[in-house]
Amino acid sequence: MKFVASPGIKLNNGINGDIRVPGDKSISHRSIMLGAIAEGDTHIHGFLEGEDALATLAAFRSMGVSIEGPENGEVVVHGVGLHGLSEPQEPLYLGNSGTSMRLLAGLLAGQSFPVILTGDASLTSRPMERIAAPLRKMGANIQTADKGRPPIVLGVTTRLTAIDYVLPVASAQVKSCVLLAGLYADGKTTTVEPVPTRDHTERMLRGFAYDVERDGAKASLQGGGSLQSTEVDVPADISSAAFFIVAATITENSDLLLRHVGVNPTRTGIIDILKLMGANIELSNKKEVGGEPVADIRVRSSKLKGINIPRRLVPLAIDEFPVIFVAAACAQGETVLTGAEELRVKESDRIQVMVDGLLALGVDAVATTDGAIIRGKQSGLGAMDDEAIKSGVGADAGIDAGIESSVDIKSHDDHRVAMSFAVASLISHCEIVIHDCDNVATSFPNFVGLAKVVGLDLQLFS
Ligand code: S3P
Repeated sequence: MKFVASPGIKLNNGINGDIRVPGDKSISHRSIMLGAIAEGDTHIHGFLEGEDALATLAAFRSMGVSIEGPENGEVVVHGVGLHGLSEPQEPLYLGNSGTSMRLLAGLLAGQSFPVILTGDASLTSRPMERIAAPLRKMGANIQTADKGRPPIVLGVTTRLTAIDYVLPVASAQVKSCVLLAGLYADGKTTTVEPVPTRDHTERMLRGFAYDVERDGAKASLQGGGSLQSTEVDVPADISSAAFFIVAATITENSDLLLRHVGVNPTRTGIIDILKLMGANIELSNKKEVGGEPVADIRVRSSKLKGINIPRRLVPLAIDEFPVIFVAAACAQGETVLTGAEELRVKESDRIQVMVDGLLALGVDAVATTDGAIIRGKQSGLGAMDDEAIKSGVGADAGIDAGIESSVDIKSHDDHRVAMSFAVASLISHCEIVIHDCDNVATSFPNFVGLAKVVGLDLQLFS
């Protein structure tokens, strides 16, 4: 599948509307996982019907959990209790989803049956020793394949022992993996994170009446308790909202309202970074739903300036850097990102892939080991040089002038890269053709539909 995005710099209408983006991916995964091992029926509203969260749902069905839905975001999970899962007949195929694989490895490490976790080409090239190492310390029988990659083979483990684990990387997936294994361990499991990362696991465990202590960077739980079923209201995903937050910011005449977005402070780095760059973002109607803060977000157009992105904000915006790179590409001056080497092991090497795409669009961008330096091109993106743009040669006249009117971008099968370059079209003089966009369905089904509603000129071709 490919996206063809028209040169937005010619459209003068702005990005406008009042929309709700789909449910939070991280919270959707966790609602199925905790619902499955709870006692009783868990009712989930606003569940993300994207491929990643559906992979988690299918995995639990394969382990004997009865799950109704999803239907319009409604799911009912008939929990089987901490020890009620059964051995799947086949390896659990988790598609593109790193969260499914890393969290499930922890949850399944203490089961009385063996299981194999596998996935697609992207997932099977991602590092898994970061979770295998702490699980082994707990006594798990776990093997990874060549170079610590999937498939993950979990043998039967008779007993897990609690550990105190100091995370070498800032990763909510590693923290959650260890805490979920801790549910099955003897004693008190503690994780210590180098900097704060998303805390949905801790919050949701409490929502399922399971005590999690928090003491600064430490999160601890005692193994051997039980989870009580509950109701989960999944807020709209700030990581999906991010594409439209940037879209409205960088497009003149924009005024966009995004409803019921999750604004957990461990996820709002995108808002802090854009505000430091000069964005006009307002939160209203703030409330707490099932232990998670939500708000409506209003975004209006603004001129951005380049900044040095504070390192403490990096884990709080870790999934939003592809679209932050697009914001930087039209800001005045230089934006410098450091301390973000984790971006190299996401669904793609997001530092290289984004820099390559921006270079193809004529932006002065450099990849560094742990980030990037991007000099904003305020005259608009496109393969043509600034002189050509000044002389008024746009996409329509481009062919006559011998100037490229369309630029091809490789998304490398990375959903967030694909959506980011669709947003980049809003500041582009040329059409942008984005290849290999199928995986947008992993996190944001109907991205194209909603993008059109707010004013992007985006077509989908298969
Ligand atoms: C996630 C944690 C982050 C994030 C991912 C979802 C989670 O990964 O990038 O999309 O739901 O816990 P890391 O823990 O690898 O940073």
